[in-house]
Amino acid sequence: MGVGRGYGKLLLFGEHAAVYGHPAVGIRLDEYLEVEISCGSAPDWSLPGLDEPEASLIRTSLEGLPGSPEPGVVRIRGTLPMSVGFGSSAAFCTGVLRAAGFPGDSLALWEAAHRLEHVFHGTPSGIDTGLSVYPGASILYPKPPALPDRAPARLPPAWLLVGALPRTSTTASLVTGIRTLRDRDPSRVDAILCELGSLSRDAASLETCPDAASLGRLADEAQTRLASLSLTTPELDLALAALRTSGSTGAKLSGAGGGGAFFGVFRDEAGAASAARILRATLEREKIAIVHLTVVRIA
Ligand code: MEV
Repeated sequence: MGVGRGYGKLLLFGEHAAVYGHPAVGIRLDEYLEVEISCGSAPDWSLPGLDEPEASLIRTSLEGLPGSPEPGVVRIRGTLPMSVGFGSSAAFCTGVLRAAGFPGDSLALWEAAHRLEHVFHGTPSGIDTGLSVYPGASILYPKPPALPDRAPARLPPAWLLVGALPRTSTTASLVTGIRTLRDRDPSRVDAILCELGSLSRDAASLETCPDAASLGRLADEAQTRLASLSLTTPELDLALAALRTSGSTGAKLSGAGGGGAFFGVFRDEAGAASAARILRATLEREKIAIVHLTVVRIA
């Protein structure tokens, strides 16, 4: 049928809080998944190279494709690491729709990708698919179960060192974990989610966040709150501490947590590149695997 590309995302602020209607800020990454669909008349979709449980989730999502195409072969390749917090399920959803020849504009594509993403984790806020569809930086105001409102975000001039550690939990189980915490202690958890949403608003305004130093400070503040929701791991803490001692103005996890994606904020590219070398050496010494490490300019 065709080939389609879907881009990954980096959440800067608002993960988990977005599920409860608070704003989130993020950027689209250059890393992508390319989805190729060859239609056939097989009884079921074939997904060469993919293991369970991803394969069965993807099979279910393919059943939700508009026009219900005949099952065939789906191949997924690309530069985006999967299942570590860079929005690979959202990238797959936008990529597979493009591969299937989805005719709509960006908003229609976002709506369709958001519907498909429910297969991967039951209550997506819509922020990952929005960041995958729209280039640049966005602030998203979730309105669950509807699609969030979106506006371009103006971020201060800064460089990010973006990395990922292996992750053992899925987004679905981490989102469920926060729901359970909130059921047990609604006033504490709601207050933290609300503060995380306010940090998103602060980060997306040049008045409250004019430079890399303020962006880093906000990242540290968000990380403290995410850690208090048990979303960090000792390995992630070690990586973030290494970034802070090697020149970052602040650092935090990104996405669902439980390991996975993270970033540190830097004033310039040279600072981020030098911290990358220190971080690699630190993680190697501690025998901690790293899935991805790259330097990204945000404004
Ligand atoms: C996952 O990238 C972000 C979460 O907030 C889930 C969501 O918003 O759908 C954890």
